[in-house]
Amino acid sequence: MDDNSSLTSGAANQSVPLWRDEFSVSQSGERYVNRRQLAKFLTLTSLGMFAGNVWVVVRSWFRKTPVYGRTVVARAGEIPVGGVKLFRYPRPGEQCIMVRTSEETYVAYSQKCTHLSCAVFYSRQDNRIECPCHQGYFSVQDGSVLQGPPTRPLPRVVLRREGDELIAIRMEPEI
Ligand code: FES
Repeated sequence: MDDNSSLTSGAANQSVPLWRDEFSVSQSGERYVNRRQLAKFLTLTSLGMFAGNVWVVVRSWFRKTPVYGRTVVARAGEIPVGGVKLFRYPRPGEQCIMVRTSEETYVAYSQKCTHLSCAVFYSRQDNRIECPCHQGYFSVQDGSVLQGPPTRPLPRVVLRREGDELIAIRMEPEI
């Protein structure tokens, strides 16, 4: 007597092994399950790729439109004409310089030289912003390059006066 005959159940299922009776999925059904699993896998993979693309697009939108906060830089009259105040804007690690150029005029720029990022300072004697690293000079009126290796003007901090407060509201150009 062979093993299969000992595992069969009942007289009607003499040729079907017992394990087939107890196994819940038939061979044709098994193929169906595999196709269904493949379709499920492909669908989930496609959804994952779609979600990834949406995330990349949304992130690029937010990168193109930086949101600047408002930072109170100083009170009007706090520094004398020709005086300087350093502050951080738009992020804590970004140093900027504000100069009071006349009784009612204040200008502010990033303190990072556009050549190789040395810190610039205001020369009251020459009424210009200077970079000590390679003698790059910038106009204090608009940040444009006057002399030296820098090719781009200093990024300007736009100031708004509200009452006696001078408030930084954005950078031009955007950084
Ligand atoms: S880093 Fe300012 S001129 Fe070179």
